Amino acid sequence: MAGTEGQDYAAPSVRSNRPKLLSATESLAGDSPECPSCPAQQRRPITLSPVLPRITATAYLTPLREGGSLPGLVEADDDGTYVVKFTGAGQGPKALVAEIVVGELARALGIRTPELALIEVNPEIGRREPDEEVQELVTKSAGTNLGVDFLPGSVGYERTFTIAADDAARIVWLDALVANVDRSVRNTNLLIWHRQLWAIDHGACLRFHHSWGSMAAFADAPYNYSDHVLALLGNPRAVHDQLRPLVGRDLLGRVLDLVPDEWLSPDPTRPDPKAPGTAGAARLAYAEYLTARLDAADRWLP
Ligand SMILES: Nc1ncnc2c1ncn2[C@@H]1O[C@H](COP(=O)(O)OP(=O)(O)O)[C@@H](O)[C@H]1O
Ligand SMILES: [Mg+2]
Repeated sequence: MAGTEGQDYAAPSVRSNRPKLLSATESLAGDSPECPSCPAQQRRPITLSPVLPRITATAYLTPLREGGSLPGLVEADDDGTYVVKFTGAGQGPKALVAEIVVGELARALGIRTPELALIEVNPEIGRREPDEEVQELVTKSAGTNLGVDFLPGSVGYERTFTIAADDAARIVWLDALVANVDRSVRNTNLLIWHRQLWAIDHGACLRFHHSWGSMAAFADAPYNYSDHVLALLGNPRAVHDQLRPLVGRDLLGRVLDLVPDEWLSPDPTRPDPKAPGTAGAARLAYAEYLTARLDAADRWLP
């Protein structure tokens, strides 16, 4: 599947204001259709680039300790600032697969989420970091990692912030589809930036890939809405008929093509006899699992 040309699909413009990444995708925008289900002010075509931008980290600035995976704030050779999610963190490269697949699905569904890039990390950039845990993580993560466009001045979501029911419903629907357990009141992984709601941190989604087993078990599993911070603000059933047709084999294939082969291949440090044997087989398996869950929507919708 890799190597397909960039094609347009319907989604609103929700990208951050980083010119360099905008140009990487907008140059392909062409005459794509608009998102019929999106609010009028968001109706603007965007394009899924056929590849994620590739950049190189030039300086490690500081660790971000709010969550569990110890992402690092870094500068990169495109003059941008990025949050790096490291391959050497607790859940390994599979968490980064989930970040890309779910982050790009979110973007396609009109959910604001920061731009992603593949970022080369040389352990030398962590050499001056006093914290040994950080040094060890950066050293373990030498090579390609995931860069998330840093949203400067963003703050964590609070209930006093007004959210449109449709925006909330789209996030809840996607989280239920990918079984995201990381959008609770205690740990929302939602940021407010430029007076808009932004979704981050999708590494805990698609947890079937940590121990491949029954596709039906994933497809049919109910979702725990009582633990979702937005569940009372947006009803996923209300947007199901709009969103379901957008997540076809075509979109799934293009999103999965953005993931580097090395993160999809079997991980020798975490043997799993049922894991797909090649990156190509893994792409097919992810698409099948997600399609099976879409087909079983009555089992997990509220
Ligand atoms: N793109 C971003 N822009 C601004 N802050 C971010 C961004 N990504 C993450 N953060 C901050 O870093 C924290 C940890 O990042 P997160 O992706 O949630 O990782 P973890 O896996 O550790 O929970 C977040 O709670 C948020 O405060
Ligand atoms: Mg988090």
